[in-house]
Amino acid sequence: MKKQLISLAITAAFALPAAAEQSVEVLHWWTSGGEAAALNVLKGNLEKQGVKWNDMPVAGGGGEAAMTAVRARVTSGNPPTAVQMLGFDILDWGKQGVVADLNALATKEGWDKTVPAALQKFSKYNGKWIAAPVNIHSTNWIWANKDVLAKSGVTTEPKTFEEFIAAAEKVQKAGFIAIAHGGQPWQEATIFDGVVLSTGGIDYYRKAFIELDPKALNSPTTLKVFQRMSQIRKLVDKDFSGRDWNVASGMVISGKAGFQIMGDWAKGEFINAKKVPGKDFLCFRFPGTQGIVSFNTDQFAMFKLSDPDKAAAQMKLASAIMDPAFQSAFNVVKGSAPARTDVPDTAFDDCGKKAIKDVAEANKNNTMVGSIAHGHAVPASIKNAFYDVITRHFNGQIDDKKAVADLMSAAKN
Ligand code: BGC
Repeated sequence: MKKQLISLAITAAFALPAAAEQSVEVLHWWTSGGEAAALNVLKGNLEKQGVKWNDMPVAGGGGEAAMTAVRARVTSGNPPTAVQMLGFDILDWGKQGVVADLNALATKEGWDKTVPAALQKFSKYNGKWIAAPVNIHSTNWIWANKDVLAKSGVTTEPKTFEEFIAAAEKVQKAGFIAIAHGGQPWQEATIFDGVVLSTGGIDYYRKAFIELDPKALNSPTTLKVFQRMSQIRKLVDKDFSGRDWNVASGMVISGKAGFQIMGDWAKGEFINAKKVPGKDFLCFRFPGTQGIVSFNTDQFAMFKLSDPDKAAAQMKLASAIMDPAFQSAFNVVKGSAPARTDVPDTAFDDCGKKAIKDVAEANKNNTMVGSIAHGHAVPASIKNAFYDVITRHFNGQIDDKKAVADLMSAAKN
């Protein structure tokens, strides 16, 4: 009898049509400890809904390598289901007509009402939603080791560029590395975001680096920006070249270095290392940029696919990303602020609460500007040309004056 039942059960199991498994292949560059921890929140969320996650990580902060990989996949006719993208890259793919239309879902879920306008500019093409924003990062942050600062006699938070340099010099004199830095073009450009804002203010930033106004670019202010970059260059250690950003964060976490100038994904590393803001480390805005947020927002764009199961899974992914509870859980770990204005800050630590408050105020005061370094100020061709100038200057290949001249040419790319 028992045998009969078993064989019946087996026959029945084989007679049933196999339930089609929904899956998403997600291409991203979240490979550091903190980033992977945040990604796991998204993975877990989807898997709970029965959607299998096929991971396609392409290492390289800032996503340059990931974007090269996406182009190769699309050219060979095998695009990934979903891709982490930034700013102008999203609009570029929108223009090429290869990304899925998320408008029906966006309308049903009311994305228009909850996503800040500065982000929507990059989430929509021709008025239609083509990407789901998962966070708001900003680049004008400094991360500091509290104990190193105390041992170096730095007792107050630097509020101006000069105060910051003076504090960093104290740290250096005390025998620590003053500024932990990874010598890769996008990281130098990330520092540049803060230096530009601190030196010229928001109007200059917009004129020179968003409108590409030649007068603003070719100005004494730009010269001063490069002079300040040279000052920072003197405060990094000799082994900075090629170092990954999360290794640099590790130097601050372990007490080798005092400061890191980096976007708030760095906080993900501190949290992942079980460090507590205010107790072990400090976060403050790049001195001279208080009240301003130079943002970049990670969004997920979906490539058009003909397989209906895959297309349905794409919509599940987009909807999962936009879920307010998920946005809280994810951004607590990632170091960023939610991409929606209706997510409470209760679950966030002090740095996260500050990030959310800063974004709300900047959104209200129109002091939110797209990051040059992370693809939200100018299209990729100009961004990359800027990287080249900033990096050659940082590495001492060109002087401050030549850097201004080269930046002018780069803007014509
Ligand atoms: C992304 C972040 C990421 C960082 C470093 C930035 O461009 O927006 O999500 O953590 O690069 O990889």
